[in-house]
Amino acid sequence: MAKINFQAARGTKDILPSEQPYWQFVKKVSEKTLRGLSFECIDTPHFENVEIFARGIGQNTDIVKKEMFLLEQTSEKEDSLIYALRPEGTAGIVRAFIQNGMSSWPQPVRLYYFGSMFRRERPQKGRFREFYQLGAEIFGDETAKSDYLAIMSTWEILNRLGLKNLKVYTNSIGCPTCRPKYITKLKKYYKDKVKDLCNDCAERYEKNPLRLLDCKEERCKQIAKGAPVILDSLCPNCKKHFQDTLEYLDYFDIKYDLDPTLVRGLDYYTNTVFEIADKNDKLRQNVVGGGGRYNGLVEVLGGPKTPAVGFSLGIERIVNLMKEQKVKIPELRGVEVCILQLGDTAKAVSKKIYDDLSGNNINVYFVPSNDGLRQQIKMASKLGAKYALIIGQREALKDELILRDLEASSQESFPKGAIVEELKRRFENCKCK
Ligand code: HAM
Repeated sequence: MAKINFQAARGTKDILPSEQPYWQFVKKVSEKTLRGLSFECIDTPHFENVEIFARGIGQNTDIVKKEMFLLEQTSEKEDSLIYALRPEGTAGIVRAFIQNGMSSWPQPVRLYYFGSMFRRERPQKGRFREFYQLGAEIFGDETAKSDYLAIMSTWEILNRLGLKNLKVYTNSIGCPTCRPKYITKLKKYYKDKVKDLCNDCAERYEKNPLRLLDCKEERCKQIAKGAPVILDSLCPNCKKHFQDTLEYLDYFDIKYDLDPTLVRGLDYYTNTVFEIADKNDKLRQNVVGGGGRYNGLVEVLGGPKTPAVGFSLGIERIVNLMKEQKVKIPELRGVEVCILQLGDTAKAVSKKIYDDLSGNNINVYFVPSNDGLRQQIKMASKLGAKYALIIGQREALKDELILRDLEASSQESFPKGAIVEELKRRFENCKCK
């Protein structure tokens, strides 16, 4: 029989224990930051009715046209429904906002989420088919305050993670009043240049002209340089909204570049759009996060007219950058103390000490054993514990135990009642927790 050799699916990867300290740190810092900025957590399903993405993200976007993983229907009764693995979080959150009547909650509603997304992209550095996003969405506030809050939250999280050398790029892509006029101007500019564009852009000219501006092909980039600038075509409301957003950023000293070619790859955006990338990533192929306003999406998916704005961060790219920039992260706490017991009388006493220690947030390992002391000490060292508590027959009968420092190989007797405070003091002093 041929040797079996299963591999993770193309574009997916295992996040091994050695990687986990980064992931846990990113998650912890992001959640703390967002909760402190009044966001609440939400989880939505990993798959949704495909129409939610098709209508929400846009039929002519790469994500919907080429990159969705569709799920086969398995139930006769649901034959009109096709599901897709979520390629991003926003459309599903909007569906949840509508379905759960969140428009009647006190506004604005601020939500955040963490989870994997799926896109059938060509795998390469920083581009996976299953990748994790941390995202946040703000519903019910049309003012620039929320655009600012979205950009500032992204910036704040990345800063608190210790990342440096980042830049915010921003633009406004207007609203349904001013954008069509701009698109007419844009198409006029491109009309006699279509033959010089890449194949994708030739199609974009017909179906999604705004995206002509952010093609990464060199010849298309050169042509885009001469294109009319959307900021010059904004209606007074959109202009004022964008100016207000920039004033907030200036006031709070968040540095940004205006990028007239930034339009983003999802159709739901209106007004402010933004991305954050490493300044060295000149082609912006590994943007760490992006977002923007999407005032029409709730209505498009069947809800009441609701302004909204949000962002998502790509966790793989953040972890990569943290490693490149050698950001120091706290180690995850493993086993800190092992209880080593000798004999049956010590068993009952050990359980009581186990409860006291774990109740005081000390990571304690205790599984009764018939092994000799030497073997148990070896096991405790192997588990990475800093201390062992040794309870033999003699200690069980007296009010004592032996506290052994496994790194220093030294030990001393301690009253049982004082051990929790003693360990807390020692961990506090050595900062090894
Ligand atoms: P997005 O720009 O498509 O926006 O994705 C956000 C971030 O997810 C990117 O900046 C990148 O870091 C990461 N990302 C995207 N695709 C991949 C991939 N194939 N592999 C690894 N990382 C990837 C959105 O998804 C919007 N939902 C953001 C948003 C929220 N807008 C408003 N609210």
